[in-house]
Amino acid sequence: MRGESAPEPAAPGAGPEEPAPEPATPDAEARTAPAEGASGASPAAVPGALPAAASGASPAAVPGALPAAASGASPAAASGVPASAASGAPLAAAPGAPGAAPNTLARTTPARTTPAKTTPASNAPAKTTSAKAASAPDALVTTGGTESNHLALLLAREAQGPGVRLVCGANAHHSLTRAAWLLGLPEPVVVPTPEGVLEPAALDDVLARLDGPLLVAATAGTTDAGLIDPLPGIAARCAAHGARLHVDAAYGGGLLFSDRHRGKLAGTGAADTVTLDLHKLGWQPVAAGLLAVRDAGDLAVLRHRADYLNADDDTEAGLPDLLGRSLRTTRRPDVLKVAVTLKTLGRTGLGALVDQVCALAQEFADRVAARPGLELYARPVVSTVLFRPVDADVAVVRRALLEQGRAVLGRARTGDGRLWLKATLLNPHTGPADLDRLLNLVEGTTPR
Ligand SMILES: Cc1ncc(COP(=O)(O)O)c(C=O)c1O
Repeated sequence: MRGESAPEPAAPGAGPEEPAPEPATPDAEARTAPAEGASGASPAAVPGALPAAASGASPAAVPGALPAAASGASPAAASGVPASAASGAPLAAAPGAPGAAPNTLARTTPARTTPAKTTPASNAPAKTTSAKAASAPDALVTTGGTESNHLALLLAREAQGPGVRLVCGANAHHSLTRAAWLLGLPEPVVVPTPEGVLEPAALDDVLARLDGPLLVAATAGTTDAGLIDPLPGIAARCAAHGARLHVDAAYGGGLLFSDRHRGKLAGTGAADTVTLDLHKLGWQPVAAGLLAVRDAGDLAVLRHRADYLNADDDTEAGLPDLLGRSLRTTRRPDVLKVAVTLKTLGRTGLGALVDQVCALAQEFADRVAARPGLELYARPVVSTVLFRPVDADVAVVRRALLEQGRAVLGRARTGDGRLWLKATLLNPHTGPADLDRLLNLVEGTTPR
């Protein structure tokens, strides 16, 4: 998870000129890609593949490490990412540009959302019409999951007022509670998640006894175990209590590319905001974050004017104005690589990669389960597998592999307090022999 990095070669199966894949030891923590350099590669050099970040990565640091691939797809329908994402058009169209979201919507009233169940039926037709007009989705390009979560809380604060309280599971990413602190919001309420997911019934109890505006954050693809909170049940509880809903799909959002796995994210469409990070299950070099919003009107609060960048007369004359689509000023063209991937692989190509790594994770889990010296935490839901040597100190094994330069495995502590090794399978080039090699390394490092 955090701090993890892995080399990132080119996309598999991407095109005839793609270099033959190197067998790779499944890197446990392939979720994060190498930084900057990646995007410097030339897409033209590897047609059909994303410029690899591989060049910037250090194989020594992550032995046998991972390829990654190109990605970018259209989570559009289910998640609220604009359709332009699917077509490869930039995700963040400039306000004022054709197809751009109007940046002139009034600030939303800081008030708790009216629970859906209390909407009078007689108002339904009119409400439907106006809701349609106001709820065109949109998405912002961010530096990653952390910034997307931060922005989601900022938008909630502006929509619901400074008293909005974050309610999230103990399984939620730390950036959410940190964002609450940064934004001066009330102390978040953290709901225990002994089974690794936020249970709707437990959430319901908490929401029932809280007053004031509420923002619930659910997770699709938890950082530790890769689990998906029961989103439809959570969305229903939010609607019943008038709470706003954010879904952190930084990791699991990539499942939307896959026909086979998309259903696991059912319920995401009910969210007001969704964090996506194509740097994880999207095979992009960092940075490749997105924040999708169901209602583009929510973004109006980010509007900002700096005469040297977006003078009124320039904007009125039709020049693009991106200043109000980020908290940053100077920005890297991070959307370019995403757009190239979308154009090149499309949703189907990305979906195939997702299917491959999810299948690989199942295979890895089978192999763990077949070894008496190892214990499997649970069947993987996305591509993360938690496992541990039965008779060894997990932290010591992990550090030994790291210090010997043999494997970089993540670690995760589950609700019962136990520590696990974490392998997040993201390299579609990985084969069965690589999986065995990694397990042999773990078992070989276990003191007898
Ligand atoms: C669920 C989840 N949300 C947010 C993040 C933060 O993403 P980033 O490291 O891109 O800021 C992570 C990172 O692992 C994550 O797993």
